[in-house]
Amino acid sequence: MVSPGSVLVAQGSTSAPVTLSVQAANGFQGTVSVGLQGLPAAVTTSPAFPLSISAGGSQSATLSVGNTVARGNYNVTFAGTSGTLSSNSSLLLTASGAAVTGPAQDFKKQVIYQIVTDRFFNGDTSNDNPPQSPGMFDASKTNWQMYWGGDLAGIQQQMAYLAGMGITAIWISPPVDNIDVLANLSGTSYAPYHGYWARDLQQIEEHFGDVNNTWTAFDNLVTAAHQNGIRVIVDFAANDSNPDDGGEFGALFNQGQPFASYQNDPAPPNNLFHHNPTITNFNDPFQLQYYTLDDLADLNQENAQVDSYLKGAVVQFMQHRADGFRLDALKDVTWGWEYSLANAAYTNGPTFLYGEWYQGINDPTYPDSVEFSNRSGIALLDFPLAFAMRDVFANNGDFHEIDNTISQEDNDFVSPNDLVTFVDSHDIPRLLSLNDNQNRVNEALALQLACRGIPVVLYGDEQYLHNDTNGGNDPYNRLWMSSFATNTTAYQVINQMANLRQANPALAYGTSQQRWINSDVYVLERQFLNDIVLIGMNKSETAAYNISGLYTALSPGSYSDYLNGLMGGLSIQVNAGGGNNPVATFSLPPHTVSVWQASGAATSPELGSLGPRLAQAGLTATAGGEGFGSSPGMVLVGTTAAAVKSWSDSSVTFVVPSVPPGNYNITVQANGGAASNPLPFVVLTGSEIPVTFTVNIVPLVAGTSLYLAGNVLELGNDVQSTTSAVGPLLAVPGTNSSWFIDASVPAGAPIQFTFFQVLPDGSVVSEGASHSYSVPTGGVGSVEVSW
Ligand code: NOJ
Repeated sequence: MVSPGSVLVAQGSTSAPVTLSVQAANGFQGTVSVGLQGLPAAVTTSPAFPLSISAGGSQSATLSVGNTVARGNYNVTFAGTSGTLSSNSSLLLTASGAAVTGPAQDFKKQVIYQIVTDRFFNGDTSNDNPPQSPGMFDASKTNWQMYWGGDLAGIQQQMAYLAGMGITAIWISPPVDNIDVLANLSGTSYAPYHGYWARDLQQIEEHFGDVNNTWTAFDNLVTAAHQNGIRVIVDFAANDSNPDDGGEFGALFNQGQPFASYQNDPAPPNNLFHHNPTITNFNDPFQLQYYTLDDLADLNQENAQVDSYLKGAVVQFMQHRADGFRLDALKDVTWGWEYSLANAAYTNGPTFLYGEWYQGINDPTYPDSVEFSNRSGIALLDFPLAFAMRDVFANNGDFHEIDNTISQEDNDFVSPNDLVTFVDSHDIPRLLSLNDNQNRVNEALALQLACRGIPVVLYGDEQYLHNDTNGGNDPYNRLWMSSFATNTTAYQVINQMANLRQANPALAYGTSQQRWINSDVYVLERQFLNDIVLIGMNKSETAAYNISGLYTALSPGSYSDYLNGLMGGLSIQVNAGGGNNPVATFSLPPHTVSVWQASGAATSPELGSLGPRLAQAGLTATAGGEGFGSSPGMVLVGTTAAAVKSWSDSSVTFVVPSVPPGNYNITVQANGGAASNPLPFVVLTGSEIPVTFTVNIVPLVAGTSLYLAGNVLELGNDVQSTTSAVGPLLAVPGTNSSWFIDASVPAGAPIQFTFFQVLPDGSVVSEGASHSYSVPTGGVGSVEVSW
């Protein structure tokens, strides 16, 4: 017998003792020799096996998992023999990632698992029906608008399941305290099980933690996750509080004390909320930022108290060791303010930020989303690619749709490898509700995990979870996690591709190139210098395709399927071709996914990532890549050497030096050796605060846009072009003679700013004068001038 029956051990650490006992059944009295089978290489035991244990006796042993052991689940069998008698006992060893020792800024090697906490696992039944918010729990799990019992302790208890899947980060639904009473909206009662109806951003929801709203359960989850190489990302909604038409009517608290009342809000300009109609035009920037999203009380981020409340909440999560944030409803929050939120987070410490800008690639706000992400450094959830993936895998669309989306986004985004990819989410029907074909889920996951961008897997996709009521729309996509099986194909695809993302930098840092395509077949190559991954798939239900004329950057040789045939993959033969090497023609059967790869040792530094991509002097940034060498070399910001804080072969942290604000190339130079390829970096003027700039002007000709420029980098260094200036400004409602915009500018800086118009024919009219303004050293600012 072995007890316990399963152990979770991080790379580089040793298990708690497991006890082997030999029962003296049927009068057996001899000594048993116990051997081991199925132990992965680089796992050692203490004491070493075989062991001799006499009947009725027991022996404890520990397992040490080396740093090179692939994350995953291993069945280890203890085989006892004595003469002709034998008996077996097995142990499930889950090897998780090495413990997280510091904050991450480079998430490109991560695989994120998205959890709707209430629907995942009930780890603590004492918080199911808490006294301050009774009657919101449905034990039968039939009322989809009630809490069902999942909690932070539940996620913690499933750590082995997550680690065995190869997951390296979890994105949890907002864990903050939500409204305590049901919101009765149009005759239906709603509980905030999803977490998006905050009442207090400074403490933890009692259904997810404990009745005192303490941070204990959150802290425990972070500790357990970090021990197993898993980072914790918090979903954070800065746009709004909770419904203004039911429940707690938008009210917000600060650590239990009243903070903001939507119903009794001070009059402008001291209002903490906007009181505008519901957004009806999702292409209108004014409506998006200042109107009400559905019925959610819309926060006025330009108010100093709201600004500090929201930024304080982010900082508090960082103090509780949250590793990153998923920012809710990005396009609905004041855009300029969000730049300052990102800067406040980066100024507080290393973190990773990505957010939700819900739109398709042809939507009018797509260019805004590109500009927003490139200039703020906040990565975006890749909605355009998700829509393309869903068309291809659920609606049997043509692979060109995916390929075109990748090409366009690669062209538009400064750092396409930071886009956060997904196929399913808690806001849209699951793929299986659109097309009940598990092969398609496996194929979509394999492609997503090979694709550029940081992949997010929605909880339950690996169990093929779906409920198709009402087309599988919310809330039926947020169903109860009914199984934690580790043997599904999807679970294993995720595991293997997540391990490949750690092992072969082409996935995290590489470029993308389509190598072969038709409507059913896609062969995509990822390449980071001499690291290469080639993935080929055929999604047809019936047709095999002859793949001839395929070329690759893989060196000549034979390559077997990295997935070991999990989805029917096969070997290929690459022939010599001077670098663009021909692959011997082969046939790709229906529903096949094959992955071929090679990772070449770096002979000089290869820079794959900078995080953040923009920061002021004095902040710490991380350079990721390979071949940096084991002893410290140099990080050059332009030509200026940065102080190095830590150095390893694949990751270097450095302090942004005091150089003039501007756009720089960063290179990493090995100790006494070669310099890497450059990556772009922006040195900001200083820490940033939001300032509302208002200009009064004679009524503008219809179709004219107004922009703000100024003598700091953040305002485009006085260049009067629409790509470097800030804008277009928004009209104060009811006028076209008073215009404003909220911009993120360097705190404490004396600045000069000016405006210019772009007339409908494209010609530019400059204000011809400039205004002086001393940006406050903290909080928020506002300045109003006349043109
Ligand atoms: C987008 C979230 O993903 C969604 O679930 C939520 O209801 C809205 N934002 C409002 O917070």
